[in-house]
Amino acid sequence: MSEVFTKSVARNIYYGGSAFFILLFLALTFDTIGQTPSRDNHEAITEEVALGKKVWEVNNCIGCHTLLGEGAYFAPELGNVYERFGKSTDAIVAFIKYRPVDGIPGRRSMPQFNLSDEELQAVAEFLKYVNGINTANWPPNIQG
Ligand code: HEC
Repeated sequence: MSEVFTKSVARNIYYGGSAFFILLFLALTFDTIGQTPSRDNHEAITEEVALGKKVWEVNNCIGCHTLLGEGAYFAPELGNVYERFGKSTDAIVAFIKYRPVDGIPGRRSMPQFNLSDEELQAVAEFLKYVNGINTANWPPNIQG
């Protein structure tokens, strides 16, 4: 064993292995950068979507919700809420508008944000845009 696994063999495995994984890392990085423009749904970013993102940030929706897995785990994932609500921005608007619905035992409730009609529509359009990002089918189920 000691004759086969000499110092120079060990050195070659070390350098060869390092080179292999550095190249693999670079290849995957370039692959990701190359794919992103066709997957990020940027054609759908309108002024309204941009306003919706602002509404999303100013009201700290991420403080309770996750969006594509990032955020807090108090309330449902919203990356696919547009699909969950039957591809209806009206349903999303109505949901946010008529909170809170209290008194259901064991159910967490969402506060009222007093958003204007324009802001409501914009945040719903923002969630529609997020739903259009190609995430390779993540989240894996409709519940989020
Ligand atoms: C204080 C925590 C909290 C914040 C902040 C919050 N939400 Fe919610 N949200 C909830 C909870 C809890 C639910 C689930 C309520 C229910 O099912 O009755 C919910 C549900 C939702 C739903 C429906 C999800 C589903 O699948 O049923 C949407 C859409 C939504 N929130 C949008 C927003 C938006 C947009 C904002 C920011 C303007 C926001 N939320 C901020 C707590 C929050």
